[in-house]
Amino acid sequence: MPSLPEETDTEPSASAPASTASAFGRDVLAGLARRPRRIPAKYFYDERGSRLFDAITRLDAYYPTRTERQILLDHGDEMVEAIGKNAALVEYGSGSSEKTRILLDALHARRTLAAYVPIDISAAFLEQSAEALRGAYPGLPVLPVAADYTRAFDLPDLPAETSRVVVFFPGSTIGNFTPDEARGFLRHAAEVAGDDGALLIGVDQWKDAAVLRRAYDDPEGVTAAFNLNVLRRINRELDGDADLDAWAHEVRLGERPHRVEMHLRSREAQTLTVLGHAFRFEAGETIHTEDSHKFGPDGLAALAQEAGLVRRKRWTDPRGWFAVELYETRGGAPR
Ligand code: AVI
Repeated sequence: MPSLPEETDTEPSASAPASTASAFGRDVLAGLARRPRRIPAKYFYDERGSRLFDAITRLDAYYPTRTERQILLDHGDEMVEAIGKNAALVEYGSGSSEKTRILLDALHARRTLAAYVPIDISAAFLEQSAEALRGAYPGLPVLPVAADYTRAFDLPDLPAETSRVVVFFPGSTIGNFTPDEARGFLRHAAEVAGDDGALLIGVDQWKDAAVLRRAYDDPEGVTAAFNLNVLRRINRELDGDADLDAWAHEVRLGERPHRVEMHLRSREAQTLTVLGHAFRFEAGETIHTEDSHKFGPDGLAALAQEAGLVRRKRWTDPRGWFAVELYETRGGAPR
């Protein structure tokens, strides 16, 4: 399950015709009309897209998930120490909370957690996984919040003994934000964490180009199917007429800023119609569908500092491919 929030806004704007009223419809029409053409990455995640993403995380070529998992396993005790006693762990885009269980295991074993607050846009899914967690961690208050974590939301009432709020944002989803969105996200996370709060965040690192290319263009073709799925979704939800065989998955590596870009490349000259609007594509023209930014060892710390967050700890794997970093709001005492 992805962590990128999906918009659910279906309010028609005053000027938009009813057929273009959904946020998805508006964003696709606007994105296809501009140059370079773009479709926001959050639209990958319909039900099929979420399943495909799940499959990606289990691919041999896709190193981020298992590398982060291993970091959590290897350094969980130090993380528990750094988080401190009686924290409320607030997870953004929790999905099934699968990875969190590694951290929860370590925290719950020492009975040091005051509450776990999973936040996800999908209310049904959230309640289901909250129930499973209550069963797995008896005595731990699990307080789910159905919300889009990139927007203002209220934390639930936390147990009286709560000493601090620790926002947990694993998976390097921050890499899918533009630098400006990442800054805004970090500022918002710092606000939610409040005084003496913290942010524990997974962040993918820049590495050998061949490793990155393989991770985003796997030999099994799962990432290609994930990328092409957005066209399938356009066909289904926006009355599109994309011929999936006429489009190819393309990965480009950007050096400044360091990032992996995903595109959909038109294999031939063609017209794509969406909600009655025709878009002409030349052979080779692309739609930019995702950026996955990769950071240097101090890259995220520099952004976070602008948001008033100070890095206190950094854990990485032996190859330095992925990092889990702990930030504290200014004023938080070093632990
Ligand atoms: C969700 N996000 C962190 C993934 C990434 O690696 O940027 C999305 C993804 N795109 C292609 N493969 C995985």
